[in-house]
Amino acid sequence: MTPPKTSDALLKKALALDKADVLKSFKKQFHHPKHLGKNSIYFCGNSLGLMPKGVESALLQECSDWSGWGVKGHWKAENPWIDYHKPFSKLLAPLCGAKASEVVVMNSLTVNLHVALASFYRPTKKRFVILYEANAFSSDLYALESLIKLRGLNPKLCLLAVDRLDSKSIIQAIQQVGDQLALVCLGGVNYYSGELLDLKKITAAAHQVGAQAGFDLAHAIGNVPLKLHAWKVDFAVWCTYKYLNSGPGSAGGLFVHEQHGNDKSIPRMAGWWGHEQNERFGMKPGFKPMTGAEGWQLSNAPVFNMAAQRVALTLFKEAGVMTVYRKGKSMGEFFLECLTTLGTMEKKEKRLYSFSILTPLESDRRGCQLSLRIHDKKGKVLFTLLEKAGIIGDWREPDVIRLTPVPLYNSYKEIFKVAQTLCQKAYLIH
Ligand SMILES: Cc1ncc(COP(=O)(O)O)c(C=O)c1O
Repeated sequence: MTPPKTSDALLKKALALDKADVLKSFKKQFHHPKHLGKNSIYFCGNSLGLMPKGVESALLQECSDWSGWGVKGHWKAENPWIDYHKPFSKLLAPLCGAKASEVVVMNSLTVNLHVALASFYRPTKKRFVILYEANAFSSDLYALESLIKLRGLNPKLCLLAVDRLDSKSIIQAIQQVGDQLALVCLGGVNYYSGELLDLKKITAAAHQVGAQAGFDLAHAIGNVPLKLHAWKVDFAVWCTYKYLNSGPGSAGGLFVHEQHGNDKSIPRMAGWWGHEQNERFGMKPGFKPMTGAEGWQLSNAPVFNMAAQRVALTLFKEAGVMTVYRKGKSMGEFFLECLTTLGTMEKKEKRLYSFSILTPLESDRRGCQLSLRIHDKKGKVLFTLLEKAGIIGDWREPDVIRLTPVPLYNSYKEIFKVAQTLCQKAYLIH
């Protein structure tokens, strides 16, 4: 099919895609922030996902169980608190391509990165380098630097930043560092550019030189299909407030491959909730880790924090994880098509702004997020104009607008409208 070349044809295509969309009914299951009395167009799921409508009643249920049962709620609550985290593993496993035993919900993203690094970064005299990305999210870099210092080592000697040009250059860097490499620690999808890495090949390259591979999947989980078990990824961490719609500061996730999860000799940060469940209340000295990712838990589950996540993950189950991922890919394609068509149409000289697409154009190198670089000093004004039109995206200094259509609550018509609004003011530079 040849791509539509006019604005009308694109709109027609958007409406046809919406009509055929098997997930369209899910939009109603979310609260949409208002703009001038109408639903705004929310393209910010890469930062904070929208609130599912079932969250209020889930929280009220916990309040009612707490008020009605007190401590007995650990066993008697609608969702007993003693094992509150357990169903989450089953819900999350298909989202990251893992066995349920390899996944656990706990703490928050940066804390989980520290917890994972404590186990997976065990430098020796010969093997001590951590390879990370030059434009890593600041918190990840702080975690890496601080852990290296805690080990009594010098971050300048142990940390190697690679410019994240593509997976190929990262693999070359891995091969160059060779047997000095202890760990590869990268974002699966980069928060700034939206670039998706080839985690399978990077993991294999790390293993080939005797190193391990761990990923921050904050911008990948719920956005792109993952096969962490099959790819033999050693560990991964993520937050659940972006594509997983679980609310601000919601509890994070940890994946530990079963080959490590079954190895109880791996040193770790320990807490009573990671101790053998049958003996947990024996309160005896001598930590005995549970099998699997659960063996890295520290504390009992923050029930109020996790109640929203239970609702949000159930929506993914109802929608079908692969159906969500397929729609995400198709939305990304259509967004790109709208931007490239509308951004290069005639009369572009009348537009005050210009932009280029920072995210790789190849569909296997990105998810739903498109990062647009604005080539004007007053680029932020363009972002403000989008906000005034009821479009919520986000601005990243110095010059990037991130815009993300999300399968569960956005439509193709919204994609068209966002691209149209932007391209009335800005033209695309290739
Ligand atoms: C890629 C990435 N890493 C780390 C963090 C920090 O997350 P948290 O504050 O939940 O630890 C974020 C937050 O948005 C992020 O996007």
